[in-house]
Amino acid sequence: MQKITITKPDDWHVHLRDDFILEGVVKDSLKNFSRILVMPNLVNPIKNTQDAINYKTRIINAIKKLKIHNYFEPLMSIYLTDNTSEKDIELAFRSGVIFGVKLYPFRSTTNSFDGVTDLFGKCSLVLYKMEELGIPLLIHGEVFNKTVDIFDRELIFIENIAIPLKEKFPKLKIVLEHISTKDAVEYVKSAKDPIAATITPQHLFYNRNIIFNHGLNPHFYCLPILKREKHRLALIEAATINNTKFFIGTDSAPHSKENKENESGCAGCYSACYAVEMYATIFDRVGCIDKLEQFISFNGPNFYGLPYNSTKINLIKQSHIIPKKLNRNIEIVPLGAGELLDWKLVE
Ligand code: NCD
Ligand code: ZN
Repeated sequence: MQKITITKPDDWHVHLRDDFILEGVVKDSLKNFSRILVMPNLVNPIKNTQDAINYKTRIINAIKKLKIHNYFEPLMSIYLTDNTSEKDIELAFRSGVIFGVKLYPFRSTTNSFDGVTDLFGKCSLVLYKMEELGIPLLIHGEVFNKTVDIFDRELIFIENIAIPLKEKFPKLKIVLEHISTKDAVEYVKSAKDPIAATITPQHLFYNRNIIFNHGLNPHFYCLPILKREKHRLALIEAATINNTKFFIGTDSAPHSKENKENESGCAGCYSACYAVEMYATIFDRVGCIDKLEQFISFNGPNFYGLPYNSTKINLIKQSHIIPKKLNRNIEIVPLGAGELLDWKLVE
């Protein structure tokens, strides 16, 4: 039987939500990952350091209830708004608990109604401060505009926002999150450091056909929306070429089955529980299992200036099926429900 032992990975982009689902969701993440960078888009967003400290305490309490020992404290982020101040950024920097500031363009995705309406007009001073202090800007890189086709939102964001942002703030650390297009891959490759991009399992596994396969499949609806096959292939290439600018970020985003299978279904795929097995499966299917560790365990810490994890995980090549449903105090249909995975995490 084929077995690999690699450095325990981290998840550089995860949604844990709050309240009664927190415990189950955190458990899934900690089974797979050492450090997790927690997104701030709660219904009441995490807008400042105090919000983040309170949320972190709730997460740690959930971890304690699970009786998990030797865990890493979650890495927190705050939500950029039109009203974020330079002082907010300084406090975030000094706190030592904030690892990024998240840019959601207004209305771009789940809980983004507090998002930024005019980045260069309203946030310039804050961006200068972040550049000075070295705090990463974590970007949901899509424009939301009724005249822009949903499949072009990322490309237009790169042209209209990312390129000028990089010109105006060349030293600002940028992570283009959950990239979904060949255009984003090419942009990140060509842009000068410091810039990186995260890639999700869904964007490596699927193209947009899956959303419309034998009927409408809401469980594959996420933002950025899945794209054409040529984009998926470009993302696989980016993830598997040992280019340190690309690393893991699951964007695992739980929504209840009911809220997904709804006349206005929510965007987001839940992958925390099988994420590492999904990445291993796709890397192996393209003949690159030897590149997995670089992508899931080394490139992220390199970008964030953190040490590699000292613990290891074991994976064996063994088929198993992703369950059709999970119970995390709400019913959740996981990403790839019913599909075969080729690799399995073992003790
Ligand atoms: C995320 C969520 O549900 O919070 N949804 C998604 O489709 N990815 C938000 C996000 O990262 O865009
Ligand atoms: Zn996300």
